[in-house]
Amino acid sequence: MAILPIIVAPDPVLKTKSEPVTAIDESIRTLAANMFDTMYNEKGIGLAAVQVGVLKRMLVADISWREEANIAGEQFVLINPEIVEDSTELNVYKEGCLSFPDQFADVTRPKAVRVRYLDLQGAQQEQAFGGLLATCIQHEIDHLNGIVFVDHISSLKRDMIIRKLKKLKKQGYFDPHDHATCGHDHSHDHDHDHDHVHGEHCNH
Ligand code: NI
Repeated sequence: MAILPIIVAPDPVLKTKSEPVTAIDESIRTLAANMFDTMYNEKGIGLAAVQVGVLKRMLVADISWREEANIAGEQFVLINPEIVEDSTELNVYKEGCLSFPDQFADVTRPKAVRVRYLDLQGAQQEQAFGGLLATCIQHEIDHLNGIVFVDHISSLKRDMIIRKLKKLKKQGYFDPHDHATCGHDHSHDHDHDHDHVHGEHCNH
């Protein structure tokens, strides 16, 4: 079990198309477990392998901690997922992304999708997803094709978000930072000398 570093936009890796998984072995199962650890650590509801720098068509999702959850406490691992059907009815959701810390924008997508994928045992599954899970799964499948949520919004808004992230990157806001050993009590320390803003991103 490990928490993996998440790639923050803008980064060319996030624009790269991932390759199909050819063998579902122990390394894939370990990756899935680490992706869940990483996702829960950042309070996310979905994560694609590309976001931790692994260009494999694989995603994890669990929306159970969200009030809107339509399936409680269920962990999904989708390998080589393919949308085989989507609804004509659309849904707007204010999306965020662990690769775009603290950035949100309304994105319109089909309200429901049917997805064919392989599970961690290598068995083919086909499942219909609705509600927040439908949004989440479509967002993650986009990642596997090098598409990020801001590609769905106006270029004006997109540029604004990218500019903000570039600036924060330059300030070292997303640099690896070991909270366990930095010796600061983040819950009370408002003027410590780290570059990140208290209460943001690192979620403490
Ligand atoms: Ni994302």
